[in-house]
Amino acid sequence: MTHPATARTTAAPRAAYAMISLTGVSRTYPGGVAALDSVSLEIGHGELVAIVGPSGSGKSTMLNLVGTLDRPSAGRIEIDGYDVSKLSDNQLSALRATTIGFVFQHFHLAARVTALDNVADGLIYTGLPQSERRRRAEAALRRVGLGHRTYHEPHELSGGERQRVAIARAVAGDPPLLLADEPTGALDSVSGNGVMDLLHELNASGTTIVIITHDREIAAGLPRQVGMRDGRIVSDSAANHPETGEGHGSGEVRDPGEERGSGEERDPGEGRGSGSSVREPVESEVA
Ligand SMILES: Nc1ncnc2c1ncn2[C@@H]1O[C@H](COP(=O)(O)OP(=O)(O)OP(=O)(O)O)[C@@H](O)[C@H]1O
Ligand SMILES: [Mg+2]
Repeated sequence: MTHPATARTTAAPRAAYAMISLTGVSRTYPGGVAALDSVSLEIGHGELVAIVGPSGSGKSTMLNLVGTLDRPSAGRIEIDGYDVSKLSDNQLSALRATTIGFVFQHFHLAARVTALDNVADGLIYTGLPQSERRRRAEAALRRVGLGHRTYHEPHELSGGERQRVAIARAVAGDPPLLLADEPTGALDSVSGNGVMDLLHELNASGTTIVIITHDREIAAGLPRQVGMRDGRIVSDSAANHPETGEGHGSGEVRDPGEERGSGEERDPGEGRGSGSSVREPVESEVA
């Protein structure tokens, strides 16, 4: 299987940046709902993190912001060192396409489209010819154990299989960051365990993964748990220091700008110091 990860890791001093960095991030919806209230959170490369909390506590709102599907009302969001508020729409699409895979609770697969093309269509941004997209899609389906179901349409698949197709689609481009909103929420426990095994495997191969889950057992089985309530982070198993008790990194979070020795935000085109810019996902993915 092709692993553009090589290009990724050599493209920039990745360890210098958190994979995800939220600083004082708020999201107020029209009508005045403060779904997220000044959240600060840092997640490093290679982490596997559970986001837990009651319904309405802001979990999906936060994940959507991290996935750049939504913009914050206030605060700063950095993904892999990029201040997303400073990126143009095109740069943002490129960042999303090359860096972030998203798995939704309800699969979001196209009906009447084979598993193969549901996955292959997720690679359209690469500009690769369809034959190559399909080749990669097939590899991703094999990776999730669905090599024997490539020509099935969603209605011919079980719930667990559909979720695995959705995961194959999310990881077909080898994104370094995978965000999953209740990936096992619609599955029975056996299928759910299969999906979790798969996510553990992906994490073991280097993918940073953030999972929203209502399942206490699943959350307990992950290395780090972040708890939310009323739009705030109220617990973080990684917050070992007393001064960060309100949430990992809250209060005295490092200023990524300062740490880099420059207050200037990075531009994906320049910041990588190599040809592997977010602006040119085609090159970096094909490399
Ligand atoms: N588009 C919207 N417009 C207005 N309010 C919204 C919108 N989306 C979410 N909210 C509100 O923001 C709050 C946080 O919602 P969010 O979806 O982030 O919760 P959640 O923690 O993911 O909950 P669940 O576990 O039920 O999925 C809720 O009170 C919700 O009603
Ligand atoms: Mg939700």
